[in-house]
Amino acid sequence: MIIAIDGFAASGKGTLATILAERLGYARLDTGLIYRATGLGVLEAGGDPENPDDALAAAESLTPALLEDGRLREPAVTAAAYKVAAQTPVRDALRRFQKDFAANPPGGAPGAILDGRDIGTVICPDADVKLFVSADVEIRAKRRFEELQSQGKTDTYPAVLQAMKDRDASDAENTVPADDAVHLDTTALTIDQVVEKALSIIEARRTS
Ligand code: C5P
Repeated sequence: MIIAIDGFAASGKGTLATILAERLGYARLDTGLIYRATGLGVLEAGGDPENPDDALAAAESLTPALLEDGRLREPAVTAAAYKVAAQTPVRDALRRFQKDFAANPPGGAPGAILDGRDIGTVICPDADVKLFVSADVEIRAKRRFEELQSQGKTDTYPAVLQAMKDRDASDAENTVPADDAVHLDTTALTIDQVVEKALSIIEARRTS
């Protein structure tokens, strides 16, 4: 069983993927980490994330260990990630790693959950279940702002909202729902409600 979960930043897809993987005993790949690790690789090498040669070199030298780096969620890495992710050769280079994970979930897990932007369209077009998670940009920025506040960060809400809009604009081309994806708008839902909806979609699919 392969479950593809796509959506824009802070839509709730990562939390949903984590909980579903736990409940179902499936292996989960947060594919954003792959782009983040590539962005970090460029910065570490002293390169420019918008330079195609620098970005492709980092994508081609990616190793699984880099996905564990503690700096992957830093704002500079997030910005580098969306800049490398906008480049087609980078996306092509990172495709194999993701497809392998879906085809052979680590630990012999009975299923795989991949969350990202293009899982249902490009990485796993034959996924058994495809979910596209969305929420209004103001709500997503508010969630991110509250998360940053809880970490003692001093970013203002307008700055977080603007950063979210910039990232959405850059990601838009690669964040398109698959024709057969089920849309889950989380704007007015709690995470428990989102999980229940997703589980009933998965259950319906399993028994069909
Ligand atoms: O999901 P997350 O916010 O961690 O992803 C970081 C960046 O990686 C995104 O802004 C996007 O540019 C890129 N990404 C992508 N395709 C994916 C996952 C992430 O382009 N499947």
